[in-house]
Amino acid sequence: VLQIDRGRIVLPGLIDVHVHLRDFRQKSKETIRTGTMAALHGGITTVFDMPNTDPPITNSETFEFRQATLRGKSYADYFLSFLIAGNCEEAKKVQAGFYKIFMGASTGGIYSEDFESDYACAPGIVSVHAEDARIIREKPERPPEAEVRAIKEALEAAERLKKPLNICHVSTADGMKLITKKNLPWVSFEVTPHHLFLTRKDYERNPLFKVYPPLRRESDRAFMWKNFSKIPLIASDHAPHTQEDKENGAAGIPGLETEVALLLDATNRGMISLKDIVEKMHTNPIRIFGIRNKGLEIGKDADFTIIDMKEEWVVKPEEFYTKARWSPWEGKKLRGKVVMTVLRGSVVMEEDEIIGKPRGVKINAGKG
Ligand code: DOR
Ligand code: ZN
Ligand code: ZN
Ligand code: ZN
Repeated sequence: VLQIDRGRIVLPGLIDVHVHLRDFRQKSKETIRTGTMAALHGGITTVFDMPNTDPPITNSETFEFRQATLRGKSYADYFLSFLIAGNCEEAKKVQAGFYKIFMGASTGGIYSEDFESDYACAPGIVSVHAEDARIIREKPERPPEAEVRAIKEALEAAERLKKPLNICHVSTADGMKLITKKNLPWVSFEVTPHHLFLTRKDYERNPLFKVYPPLRRESDRAFMWKNFSKIPLIASDHAPHTQEDKENGAAGIPGLETEVALLLDATNRGMISLKDIVEKMHTNPIRIFGIRNKGLEIGKDADFTIIDMKEEWVVKPEEFYTKARWSPWEGKKLRGKVVMTVLRGSVVMEEDEIIGKPRGVKINAGKG
């Protein structure tokens, strides 16, 4: 039977600016293959690769090794990063898409002794994990003040240096208020699906939901929804760990395969619009990080995320491509599903199946 109207909708290819693909010595957590297949399955056509790998991407040799590891193996297009922590001379040698700085220790343990000097030396846009090192050493539960203090410091540096800064995974109402009040045009920030859809009550019920920054109060979550229009970027902070590592206290939540669907479900509930999703996962990532080749203008890559707003489905981690076969949303029924992903003109995912070989390429920054 010829179906002339399946009721499907096309979105421009969605971009996740915060993904931990692991690989290297942590292939048991995730590989380039599994992580980027998960991206396509979730409707993400470009991933930003995070550098807190083992070994970490802190010198030009490891950066070149990262490039070689992704080349020909990635199913999604990718934007590469470099981790700055007192190693500025090395940072200047590489052509990274963005530079990551940790103000306090997270997975991998590396953090900056002097945020402002590392930020000052970065040859391109900096994405910062804003949690204050001293506060989290004294208070390992990472209270809101750890984030708020770090955001304050980061904003003061941004005001002085006037160079591009993206603040990762903002989780607190007070942190977000500081950023939006200052409203510096060269400063952006991300919010994750887990901070939008979960609270610390969920963590109290299930210790597997441990994540940095932690899940917060309902009032923080409510503030973010109330001020949703002010959020420039939604990014998963997809952080795969083995079951064993999670049970031993590893922080991180996998998000690539639920992120877009959660937002589609919220759209069906009237909380947001498809325009919001496109703005925060396509238009703004391209603008903020200066990505060439992507966008809706004539002549750009034919990347699309095709969705079915009516399809209802249940989150089943055993059907994930990520090696992190668990999800805070396991068993949740969602209305709205990614049904097809198109990367530079090729159908690369259809009805939960990955189609063809790895076609992902490195994406470069810089206009023109
Ligand atoms: O919970 C987290 N997990 N937060 C981070 O900042 C890093 C991430 C990871 O790499 O596991
Ligand atoms: Zn982080
Ligand atoms: Zn992260
Ligand atoms: Zn299915």
